[in-house]
Order: sequence, then structure tokens, then C-alpha cells
Amino acid sequence: MENKLKVLFVAAECAPLIKVGGLGDVAGELPVKLQELGIDVRVVIPANKDIDVPTVYQGDFPVNLGWRNETCIVREVLNTPVKTYLVDNYHYFGRAGVYGHRDDPERFAFFCLSVLEMLRRFDYRPDILHLNDWHTAPLAMLLREHEREEPQLSDIAILYTIHSLEYQGVSGRNIFNLFGVKDVVFKVDKVEYFGCFNPMKAGINYADLINGVSKTFTQQMLTSKYGFGLEGVLSNRKHQLRGVINGINTKNWDPENDPYIYAPYSKDNLEGKKENKRRLQEDLGLEPSDRPLFAVVSRLVPNKGLELMEGAAEAVLKEGGQFVLLGSGEKFYENAFLRLMSRYPGQVSVNLEFNNEKAHRIYAGSDVFLMPSRYEPCGLSQLIAMRYGSVPLVHKTGGLADTVRDEGRYEGEGTGFTFSTYSLDALLRALKKVLRLYETPKAWKNLMIRAMTNVPTWENAAREYLNLYAEAREENRKRRIKGRKNPF
Ligand code: GLC
Repeated sequence: MENKLKVLFVAAECAPLIKVGGLGDVAGELPVKLQELGIDVRVVIPANKDIDVPTVYQGDFPVNLGWRNETCIVREVLNTPVKTYLVDNYHYFGRAGVYGHRDDPERFAFFCLSVLEMLRRFDYRPDILHLNDWHTAPLAMLLREHEREEPQLSDIAILYTIHSLEYQGVSGRNIFNLFGVKDVVFKVDKVEYFGCFNPMKAGINYADLINGVSKTFTQQMLTSKYGFGLEGVLSNRKHQLRGVINGINTKNWDPENDPYIYAPYSKDNLEGKKENKRRLQEDLGLEPSDRPLFAVVSRLVPNKGLELMEGAAEAVLKEGGQFVLLGSGEKFYENAFLRLMSRYPGQVSVNLEFNNEKAHRIYAGSDVFLMPSRYEPCGLSQLIAMRYGSVPLVHKTGGLADTVRDEGRYEGEGTGFTFSTYSLDALLRALKKVLRLYETPKAWKNLMIRAMTNVPTWENAAREYLNLYAEAREENRKRRIKGRKNPF
């Protein structure tokens, strides 16, 4: 018991307590698998008005934010598989919505300072601090800038995982000032970014080890096309940069055992899949049809490839196929899909909502899953689609490139279809191949089975993270021998 590795996993969201996107899924699932591998792992996230679960008070303390103090209350959530703490403060976290508030940089600065204070006050000393995305990245800076006066902080190795490079939390110098570290830290080689404070840059520069959520995305981060202005900062640290693909929860997403879907099925017996399609068509008001049913389950934000989706849907409909959309987001795109529905009655179903039950039914009832993201660090929906035998048609980028093998190129070995150039032409060329193969039921069935068999699991990812933790500790050891604050 005593010498178990201790990991504190720090994130902005964690499913099922609170979830906005894929980060929430990762925080809800990876720690559970790590625990199964014998790690003493705990999770800490900010409290939120929408988290309505029983908790136990653990303590409270003042947190210094520049010239003032705010109170932090720490609670432990009851009945979670992994010990989970909520960092609360009524002003910052007594509201709904994880992101999108004008004072987000300040809210997450408070969160980071509170976690640092927990490390000082609580009788719990992690070996690894596992940080995720920009919201938690300043903790890396805080630990290293305070370690001279508080040597116990220097033992903690830091792994920083990037799920999205686009959102960096760039804010004013006033936010930097809240952290109470020396002025010299506000320099271009540390956290300064065009006169602003860049939390993501702090994470990259101060962590012992960094990883992206797929190998291809990690390589792409080093290019100006996908680096979002941080390609240079990341390149400086390329020796400490790794890529680990996420997995999915195979218990929650299991067509053999899914209470939400119409009929169970598996790769050994696909009969139930037909029933799912028939009932889904009925429920969504689509005509009964054997033509391919295409699905999109996605937040309607530009990087998901919305401008290609519409053109692809139209091409599918012209061929007599059907199209179902589940998700909400930007009005411009919502309206475009609604127009499509009125032009092709009985062939299109537009569901502008997030509905978990419906999502399960759509994965189970559809034939093809469309995901033409402009860029995609990992992507989870294509993995769920594969598990449900809904063949993915994806842009070959980031995690999509790493998880879908193109049947168009590797005939008889693919797990879906990919297109390389981000253009409607390229997508339509791939779409033709999809429609052609669909005409050959035997080949299609084999493709479905391969997709269902080749989904990356959290068990694998968790093992890879164990290696990263070991590497991060080694990097930290080397850094300390050299007597440096920063690993670079
Ligand atoms: C972000 C990325 C997505 C990834 C998820 C979990 O939401 O956009 O690609 O799957 O994080 O890592």
C-alpha cells in the first residue's frame, strides 16, 4: 500500500459529474483505469452549480489573489469510483457553465492557486501532478517558482496533457499578477506571449513532460498550420513531447449490453443492428429505407468541419441516402441543417440538442458516421461509432488519422474511410467509395466487423500513461540534479 504511485489528476471538468466535451470523458475514465492498475489516483476539479451530488467538507482556507484573499472550500464527492475533490468558492464557481464566463482566466487562476494551497495544507503528497489543458497549466509555473522556499514541491513531477491547443487562456498581465510569482517570470522564454499572459505556454515550459492526445496531433502541433502560435514553444520541448491516444469506456458503450438501444447486437451477430436502424428511422420520422443512413453527432463548432458536412449530406441525399444530425451550436449551421431537412422531407432528421439516449440510438442505428473535423486532437465519437459498427468517414488528421484505417486505400483491411485534403472534393471522392462498398453487403459487413474490433481502449492508454509518469519523474530528477527551475 505504502509505495503506491500517487497521482493527482487536475482538470476543469470530469464526467459524469460535469461534462462539456471530450476532456470531461477523459477525466472521468482514465483515472479509473489508472486506479485499476494499482495507482493511488485522485481527481480535483472546480465546483459548479450544475454539480448536484452529496459531498463531504474537507477544509477551507484563504487563497491569496494579488492584493486580496478569497476563501476556498474543498469538498470530497461521495460515491465516486476515484476519490474526487471539488474546489469551491461561491463567487467563482457558484454558477452554471464550466467555460464561457468573462472572468474565466481569473476563475481558473483561483482554481490553480487553491490546488497549490491544498498541496501545502493537506496530508497528501502526490508523486505526479497530471495537468490538463490551459485551465490547470499555471500550476506547473506555481510549483516550480515556489520550490526554492518549499523544497517538498520539487519532488512532484509534472505531466501536462494537451487536449486542445486552440484554447490557450491568453489573458492580460493583471491575471499573471494574481499568481504572486516574480516579475521575471513574465518573459518571452517563460509565460509572456505578445504582451499577454499565456497559461498554455506556462504549462508547456514548466512541465517535466508534455503529451498530446494522439501521435499525429502531437506531430501536427509542431507545425505552423496546427500549432496555434505555440509551435515554436513546443518545438523547444520536443524531446519531452509524447503522443498517447485516448480510449473509450467499453462498458458504457457496448452494443451487446446497452439499455438505450432498440436491440442488442455484436460483431458475431449483427442481426440486431438492422432492427436498430428500422426503429431509429421510425422514431425520427424517416422513411423506411435500406439506403445508407449517415449520422453526425457533434457540437456545431467550426473545427468540426461543418462547412463540409452540409455538402456531403446533400450528396448522400441525392443518392437516396438518409442523414441524421444530433448536436447544437452555432445558429448559422443549425439553420443550414434545418433548411436541408425541409428540402428533403423523410430523408433528414435534425436534432438540435444534446441527448445521451438518442446518441446511443443513433450510433447503433446508423450505417456511416461522418466526422470531417478540420483538426482533431483525438476525437472520441469516431471511436464510439466504430464500436457500434457505424463505419467512420473522417478527415485524415490528428486522432482521426491514428484510429481509422482507410478501406479505400487498404482494401479488405480498413476500419473506415478517410480523405486527406480538407476540401469538399476530397470528401466527395471518399464518399463515392463508401456508397460503392455499401452495395456489396458482404464486404460492408466485414468492414463493420473490423471497425468494431479495432477500437482503442482505456486499458492501453492507462498503461502508456504509467510510462509517461515514470518518464516525467526521470525528467524531474535530471532537472533537479542540474539545479534548474525549468526543465529546459
Ligand atoms: C478535446 C479534443 C478532442 C479529444 C478530447 C479528449 O475535446 O478536441 O479531439 O478527443 O479533447 O482528449
